Amino acid sequence: MKYVTAVFAVLGLVLPALAQDVADQVAPEGAGAGLIAGSEQVQAAQAAKQAGIPTQAQDWMIAAANPHAVEAGAKILRAGGTAADAMVAVQTVLGLVEPQSSGLGGGAFLIWYDGATGEMTTLDGRETAPLAATPRLFQDDTGEPLGFYDAVVGGRSVGTPGTPALMQQAHQRWGRTEWATLFADAIQLAETGFHVSPRMAKLVAGDAERLGRQQAARAYFLPAGAPITEGSLLKNPAYGETLRLLAKEGAQAFYTGDLANRIVQTVQGNVDNPGVLAEVDLAIYQVKTRAAVCITYRIHEVCGMGPPSSGALTVGQILGLLEPFDLAALGPDNANAWRLIGDASRLSFADRARYMADADFVPVPTKGLLDKTYLKTRSQLLQSDMSLPEVRPGEPEFDHALNWADDASIELPSTSHISIVDSYGNALSMTTTIENAFGSRLMVGGFLLNNELTDFSFRSHRDGVPIANRVEPGKRPRSSMAPTIVLKDGKPVLVVGSPGGSRIIGYVAKTIIAHLDWGMDVQEAISSPHLINRFGTYDVEQGSGAEDLSAPLAKMGFEVNTRALTSGLHAISVGEHLLGGADPRREGIALGQ
Ligand code: GLY
Repeated sequence: MKYVTAVFAVLGLVLPALAQDVADQVAPEGAGAGLIAGSEQVQAAQAAKQAGIPTQAQDWMIAAANPHAVEAGAKILRAGGTAADAMVAVQTVLGLVEPQSSGLGGGAFLIWYDGATGEMTTLDGRETAPLAATPRLFQDDTGEPLGFYDAVVGGRSVGTPGTPALMQQAHQRWGRTEWATLFADAIQLAETGFHVSPRMAKLVAGDAERLGRQQAARAYFLPAGAPITEGSLLKNPAYGETLRLLAKEGAQAFYTGDLANRIVQTVQGNVDNPGVLAEVDLAIYQVKTRAAVCITYRIHEVCGMGPPSSGALTVGQILGLLEPFDLAALGPDNANAWRLIGDASRLSFADRARYMADADFVPVPTKGLLDKTYLKTRSQLLQSDMSLPEVRPGEPEFDHALNWADDASIELPSTSHISIVDSYGNALSMTTTIENAFGSRLMVGGFLLNNELTDFSFRSHRDGVPIANRVEPGKRPRSSMAPTIVLKDGKPVLVVGSPGGSRIIGYVAKTIIAHLDWGMDVQEAISSPHLINRFGTYDVEQGSGAEDLSAPLAKMGFEVNTRALTSGLHAISVGEHLLGGADPRREGIALGQ
């Protein structure tokens, strides 16, 4: 009996002996330990996560980055709400208690499996470049790229937020709970206060100088001139007011009227680094419904978010390149398995840099990149005992005679992921972001505005050849977010995703391989060591036990780098039971019933 049953706490029963034992064993220094006191169920879920045990349930399951947010979503699911309803409750709370990662001022991608019809839909709520943006947005007067933080901090990097519109559209399409109800927990927490988590306190302290540049952000994160501290009670009445407005009037109150005007004034009025976002950009913002991008991987179908995200294409390419190899036989401790994964990743990232961008603006060879013949040919490059000495983009079948130059966008870890399965058989995987930690560092209405436009390439051309992911008015910056649903025989078996900038792709690919090929349960698959190659160094997770692989990988020719790899994976497997897993590297949990 390995699993923490979730039913007990939901029913108000005493913790079972197993969960209590686990709670007693867990060291207080763990990434999520000592977080927020929370209910017994939250404490048991935290302890189980640290002990590597998934949460088990029958009816529904939710996994996300903060216990307050997970509890808000669980409350909705328990009362008969759908995964879409619960997502709105989770997102509104995350924007308060994990403001560094996502919120109303950001964007998101959502993949939905409909339990009644078996249909898969994706919603693109990505931030969008203002109509006044030009390909030179992030260049100086001589055409050279700006320094990263010179571009990020201030109004210049702010794209039109998509999260409020996405929440509303998901609710309109798949919700059952009254819209205003979904805001109740977030409003209460904003108005009565929440205890600052260790991670939030640490990140605020590390970013104090940048957070101190705008008056509203300074007053909130650095009251009395010093960073807020872990465990202190923080209230956000301005956020409460914004939520009350959206609860009453819907997402349109974000995109037109007084709030839209204040967002524009904040962006354009930023003295040091003004942006070009205008009221018209907010007024015309639209969530786009797109077909899921899927690839068959052995006996499963792996589906996710296509362009403007590179997530499904790059995860799909990695899996497609690995399909000819027996990873199950090699196992997770084998250096040759990691050589294959590392080089498959390098080949995929080479294609990503060349071909992937917003397909509404530049032709992207989506079919060609996942074509099995193309991937089979390219996977022959992996038939060696050594790492590839040189990696170049391939030549996928392309129905447009266009030539792009390689992009080298700067992408740093950030973002948040929500996985939900509801009692109607629906599954939701949503990755949500304001890009860099604390986004643009501009606050309005109690939430932070994104810096998503810095996910575009700062350079528009290389040697006179245009870069696919250059800035263009109305375009959506390329993302790495990879919300994923894995199907077997047309039914979901795994719902997964992670934050982490472009490392998201490696985190998600590894978790899928660990679950499908190496037979790990979701929690083991999440917790297992990360080895990530993004077409540069082979990053091996510090303190994970995987360091033993460093020497053999270096012998194979990789440049190995040991470092912290702070993913935030949240996953649910669907089988005889629902099993939920949360990343022990972060503060989240999985709860179910
Ligand atoms: N800004 C994170 C991503 O979209 O990949």
